[in-house]
Amino acid sequence: MTILVTGARGHVARSLVRQLLAAGQPIRAAGRDPGAARVPAGVETTHCDLADPGTFDQALAGVGKVFLYAEPRGVDDFVAAAASAGVEHIVLLSALLHDPASADAISRMHGDAERAVTRSGVAWTFLRPGGFATNTLQWAPSVRAEGVVRDPFPESRSAPVHEADIAAVAVRALTEPGHEGAAYTLTGPELVTRRRQAELIGDAVGRPVRFDVQDLEHYRAELSAWTTPQVAEAVIRETAAAVDRPAPPTDTVAKVTGRPARTYGEWARDHAADFGAGAL
Ligand SMILES: NC(=O)c1ccc[n+]([C@@H]2O[C@H](COP(=O)([O-])OP(=O)(O)OC[C@H]3O[C@@H](n4cnc5c(N)ncnc54)[C@H](OP(=O)(O)O)[C@@H]3O)[C@@H](O)[C@H]2O)c1
Repeated sequence: MTILVTGARGHVARSLVRQLLAAGQPIRAAGRDPGAARVPAGVETTHCDLADPGTFDQALAGVGKVFLYAEPRGVDDFVAAAASAGVEHIVLLSALLHDPASADAISRMHGDAERAVTRSGVAWTFLRPGGFATNTLQWAPSVRAEGVVRDPFPESRSAPVHEADIAAVAVRALTEPGHEGAAYTLTGPELVTRRRQAELIGDAVGRPVRFDVQDLEHYRAELSAWTTPQVAEAVIRETAAAVDRPAPPTDTVAKVTGRPARTYGEWARDHAADFGAGAL
């Protein structure tokens, strides 16, 4: 039965489509603009906007399993449509923080999505990653242009997770029995400081990358350009706290996939082109 992969343009979804294809699974890649998803040749695509219930029936026809982004608008309608269409299993991309009662909007969004999926009556698996390694693509423009990472927290530590590892866990959950009702906390394999991340990007692109300790007010202004003041403050608070009290890495990727989670250095090598490798 077909596996529907929502959000086909996303980093995790793109990796998942490639991995499911390599595993010989029948896939339908869905997105708000499926033409822009650049899925591999031969993969069926469909229009599905999780905020537009009018797009659900066609996307879900003949689907047995779904990989779902936690888009808050329409998630209740989507899971109800999935249940009516006979979907047997939903694998939800949730997050480490997932509390429907939280003051933090992002945690609330993931908590709400988990609650909607749980209530749908369809079997589920929750993927709860911590911070993505792809978040550091925000450094790519300054690394490409000036060979510099600007950030106020050089010693803040985290275990960023590679999108391919989140996707690899999703592949297992979508193709093997035994993952129903499981919630997987996913991280990279080791703690790494932001200063070290900049060095690893330099290693990947073959040029030194400098770390400039950024003024906190500049950082706050940058964050505020893409998120609410509350989320910006939460990010600053958590990043500062992770200097002394980082969230510990988990070994869930290795346990579920049988292969160790990819390091930040591997991620930087996989994304060297994004940081301008070979561009000089
Ligand atoms: N960044 C982190 O550190 C972090 C940590 C924990 C969890 N997460 C979760 O992971 C998600 C990001 O994953 P990613 O990096 O793979 O995504 P991404 O590359 O940031 O792309 C955004 C994704 O969200 C999808 N999307 C947004 N609104 C949608 C809608 N109305 N209908 C359908 N799809 C919609 C997009 O689908 P289209 O193809 O339609 O554009 C796209 O796949 C976050 O939204 C969050 O839920 C992130």
